[in-house]
Amino acid sequence: MGFPLARPRRLRQSESWRRIVRETRLTREDLVYPLFIVPGTRVRRPVESMPGVSQLSVDECVAEARALADLGVPALILFSAPEVKDASASAFLDPQGLVPRAVQAIKAARPELIVWTDVCLCSATDHGHCGHVLGSGAIDNDSSVATLAQVALNYARAGADAVAPSDMMDGRVQSMRQLLDRNGLAATPIVSYAAKYASAFYGPFREAADSAPAFGDRRSYQMDPANAREALREVALDIEEGADLVMVKPAGPYLDVIRRVRDAVDVPVVAYQVSGEFSLIKAAAARGWIDERAAAFETLTGIKRAGADLIVSYFAPDMCRWLPA
Ligand code: PBG
Repeated sequence: MGFPLARPRRLRQSESWRRIVRETRLTREDLVYPLFIVPGTRVRRPVESMPGVSQLSVDECVAEARALADLGVPALILFSAPEVKDASASAFLDPQGLVPRAVQAIKAARPELIVWTDVCLCSATDHGHCGHVLGSGAIDNDSSVATLAQVALNYARAGADAVAPSDMMDGRVQSMRQLLDRNGLAATPIVSYAAKYASAFYGPFREAADSAPAFGDRRSYQMDPANAREALREVALDIEEGADLVMVKPAGPYLDVIRRVRDAVDVPVVAYQVSGEFSLIKAAAARGWIDERAAAFETLTGIKRAGADLIVSYFAPDMCRWLPA
């Protein structure tokens, strides 16, 4: 049946009609919000390249978590930028480190908040790479995996609701799962950044997490942006190794990957709308070139429509304010 009998505009003629035939609906429950923990007390240091985002000391992150929970944000993911940076990433192995203390304090204040902890080495190593660096400058996979598993154990022991490896070393999910299980933490889920691309959109985050590599780039471990079949392979391997949720990152430039992953697996799929995706919208909105709220809704709706079950986004608090009660 074609025109003039078919007139798709009939169902678009009012917001009342559009509202009841809408296929994709964002909700607060879709959202996960990143926090950046730094040393000190009463520290709230704005991240210049991410308007509205601040680095927070542990005490401030608890205040922030309370406000976020009140807004209806259901889940957080914690990053930290410790003072001490060394070859062994020792700051992340400290049971009294920034993330363990933040996890304990947040869970004590608002137990209903789900708290994920990012697991990587880049913010705690003196070279800023996500794994251990050999004399040749290469990133050593297997020794990195051993350290990453210890970091995951440290965070899980502190009470994290999930550990989220973002390093892209091979085999880290399996090592983590085994170490957690051997230590009585079989109930702690793993959110794997399974398909994480070597992206130009991480720039602002590296200011927030103080994690820019001192030399080279991350292309020997993060994925080539040109590859989608490889993402399916990464995801399948991580699920085999024990990942409970899998992530695609960044989100906007990889909507096809999100869709293909969603169609290929049965576990929840997370998409990460990264710092650069956020800051582009913020910067254009600040110049009056784009409507921030409409752009945030459109990008997040697109990510959900592509198949994401959960979206990590710096817009999460604003979305919770903007969404209807
Ligand atoms: C660390 C990590 C990065 C992001 C999350 N975890 C940066 C990187 O890989 O360089 C990026 C998040 C963002 O840009 O918002 N491995």
